[in-house]
Amino acid sequence: VLKYPHPALRAPNEEIPLEELTGPGCEISKIAKEMFLVMYATKGVGLAAPQVGINKRLMVYNESGDSKKWMQETIMVNPKIVEFSEAKEWDEEGCLSFPEMGGDVERSKWIKVEAQNLKGKKMKKKFKGWEARIFQHEYDHLDGTVYIDRLTDQGRAEVQVTLEELISNYGDGGAL
Ligand code: CO
Repeated sequence: VLKYPHPALRAPNEEIPLEELTGPGCEISKIAKEMFLVMYATKGVGLAAPQVGINKRLMVYNESGDSKKWMQETIMVNPKIVEFSEAKEWDEEGCLSFPEMGGDVERSKWIKVEAQNLKGKKMKKKFKGWEARIFQHEYDHLDGTVYIDRLTDQGRAEVQVTLEELISNYGDGGAL
């Protein structure tokens, strides 16, 4: 997983055309599978493609974080949040690209989303609670936004030392 401040985390992410989903090789499906492996190995609950250096609009998550509960695995291709609840709540988040730190982030309690599955089939869903939070976090990655951008000044101040360590460890090029 690429660590902050790797430039791939801030780069634009391309829509995935239907040909890439249905074409020979099923590249995207292979990438999604590998992303789950990486996610479980690093004890995450979600991962966005730019975090593994692939600047495409693809994200995976399993809110249980448990590979045995594979029924809860969700893959979203070209996801879009079409409605955010006005009601918001704060909760602590972390991110695989920011090891050993966390902070409180305000998110909408529920969201309505549109996305495609691995076959390009369109779906519409409503998520609430923990799943809505994971979705909003991963969706941010697809827009080059990371959760530290949403910390309060105080939350940011609390992680500043860790952030500076990340920058000195990984520099502008980051590392795998
Ligand atoms: Co993240």
